[in-house]
Amino acid sequence: MLSRNLFATALALSGSVIADLAPHKALGRSEEKTPCPEDGLEWISTNASLPKVVIYNTGGTILSTSNYSRIDNVKYGRGYRPTVEDLIGNVSEVLSVAQLAIVRFDAPGGSSGINSSLYLNISQYANRQLCSEGSDIAGAIMFHGTNTLEETAFGVDLTFNCSKPFIATGAMRPDSYMSPDGHSNFYQAVAAAASPSSRDRGGMIAFNDRLTSIFYSTKTNANTPDTFKAIEQGNLGAFLAGQPYYYYGASYPTGRPYFDVTNTTVLPPVVILYGHQGFDASLMYAAVANGAKGLVVMGPGAAQLSPSAQAAADDLYSQGIPTVAVPRTGTGSGIPDPVAKTIIYASYQIAPLARVMLQLGINAGYSLDEIRSLFESPIREAVYEPWVNQKIYGLAA
Ligand SMILES: *[C@@H]1O[C@H](CO)[C@@H](O)[C@H](O)[C@H]1NC(C)=O
Ligand SMILES: *[C@@H]1O[C@H](CO)[C@@H](O)[C@H](O)[C@H]1NC(C)=O
Ligand SMILES: *[C@@H]1O[C@H](CO)[C@@H](O)[C@H](O)[C@H]1NC(C)=O
Ligand SMILES: *[C@@H]1O[C@H](CO)[C@@H](O)[C@H](O)[C@H]1NC(C)=O
Ligand SMILES: *[C@@H]1O[C@H](CO)[C@@H](O)[C@H](O)[C@H]1NC(C)=O
Ligand SMILES: *[C@@H]1O[C@H](CO)[C@@H](O)[C@H](O)[C@H]1NC(C)=O
Ligand SMILES: *[C@@H]1O[C@H](CO)[C@@H](O)[C@H](O)[C@H]1NC(C)=O
Repeated sequence: MLSRNLFATALALSGSVIADLAPHKALGRSEEKTPCPEDGLEWISTNASLPKVVIYNTGGTILSTSNYSRIDNVKYGRGYRPTVEDLIGNVSEVLSVAQLAIVRFDAPGGSSGINSSLYLNISQYANRQLCSEGSDIAGAIMFHGTNTLEETAFGVDLTFNCSKPFIATGAMRPDSYMSPDGHSNFYQAVAAAASPSSRDRGGMIAFNDRLTSIFYSTKTNANTPDTFKAIEQGNLGAFLAGQPYYYYGASYPTGRPYFDVTNTTVLPPVVILYGHQGFDASLMYAAVANGAKGLVVMGPGAAQLSPSAQAAADDLYSQGIPTVAVPRTGTGSGIPDPVAKTIIYASYQIAPLARVMLQLGINAGYSLDEIRSLFESPIREAVYEPWVNQKIYGLAA
C-alpha cells in the first residue's frame, strides 16, 4: 500500500519534478546542432537525485493479460492490457532505483510482425536521448515481445554510439499469471540500466535473474521464463537482491561493429535459408530475384554448404551478392577457408543476427571484402594469424 501511494504521489508530482530537473541549460552549443537530448520526456520520479532511465516500450507479453485464468500462459493476450504506468504501479519499488520516462513505439502485429524500421527508430531515439552531449540519462531499457526480441535488440546494439547501458527485457508469462516474470524482469532491467557497473559492455538482455550479451543471445525455449541464453558465451552476470552482479570487468564482445543509422529509414533486404539434406539451391536465386541484396544460409556442421549451394554462392558473389554461411547448429562458429574464397563465414553469429549485421553492412556501402572482414576478421585473427597456424595452413611465405 505504501509503495502504491508513493507511485501516485510521484505521478501527481511529476509535472513539478520535470520543471525542477530540467537539465542541459548551459551546454554552450548552438541549438540546431545540439537538439535537447531529452526532448519530450516526462520523468516519473520520487527522488530527483536518482539516476534517469528511459523505457522504450514496444509492448509484448510483459504488458498483456489473460481472460481465462491465473494459470494461463498459452492463450493470453485477450484480457485487460496494462500500460507501463500500470506496471510501474505494480512494481513501484523501481521508483526507489531510478527516475523513469516512457517512449512508446508501435509494433503492429506483435513481436512476430516486426521489421527493422522499429529498431532504426528506437536507435535514433536512443542515440539522441542518451548519447548526445549533455545527456544526463544513465541508461535505457526496452520492452519487447520475446519472439524476436534478440533481432530488435541486436539492431539497436550495433547502431548505438555510447557506452551507456541499453538493456532489453520482456516476459514469458502474462501479467495475470499467478507468478508473472515480468515484474522482476522489469525491476532488474531498471536496476541494471541505472548501474554504472553496466557501462562499456554493449547491450544486454536482463531476463530471469540473468544478464547476457545481446551480441550472442537468443531465445532458446518457446514456453519457459529461462529462455534468453548465450549458450556458448554464458551469462555476464546475475541479479542478487535486484542488483546486477557482474562476473567479470567491463568489455565489449569480440568484433562488435558500430553502424551509423542516423539517416537510415529502410535497410536492404537479406533472406535466411535453412540448409538441409537435399537443399534446393534454386531458392538462393529466387531470393535474389525477389530483391534480396544478400543471403544468410544456415549450413550443417560448421556452416558447410552443399555443393549446389556453394556453386550458387560463387555465381551470386560474382554478381556482387554476398552469401554468409552460419552453422545451423545454433552454437559454434563458421570456419572460413585459409585463403578466402567466395562464401563468407560468420564468427559465432546466429542466423537472425547475422542477417541484421549483413543488412547494416550492405547499407553502409561496404564492399564484398569489407563484408567478409566484418564477419570473418575475429575468427581469422584467432585461427590463421598466429605464426604456428600460418605454417600449418600454408599461409606463411
Ligand atoms: C534519494 O536518493 C539518494 C540516492 O541517490 C539518497 O541518498 C537519498 O537519501 C534519497 N532521498 C530520499 C528522500 O529518499
Ligand atoms: C477471452 O476472450 C476471447 C476473445 O475475445 C473469447 O473468445 C473468450 O471466450 C474469452 N474467455 C473468457 C473466459 O472470457
Ligand atoms: C497490476 O495493476 C493493474 C492496474 O493497475 C491491476 O488491475 C492488476 O491487478 C495488477 N496486477 C498485479 C499482478 O498486481
Ligand atoms: C518513431 O517512433 C516515434 C515514437 O513512438 C513515433 O512518433 C514515430 O512516428 C516513429 N517513426 C517511424 C518512422 O516509425
Ligand atoms: C515495416 O513495418 C512498418 C510498420 O508495420 C511498415 O509501415 C513498413 O512498411 C514495414 N517495412 C517493410 C520494409 O516491410
Ligand atoms: C561511436 O562512433 C564512432 C565512429 O563514428 C566509433 O568509432 C565508436 O566506436 C562508436 N562508439 C560506440 C560506443 O559504439
Ligand atoms: C545525416 O544527414 C545529415 C544532414 O543531411 C548530415 O549532416 C550527416 O552527415 C548525415 N550522417 C550520415 C552518417 O550520413
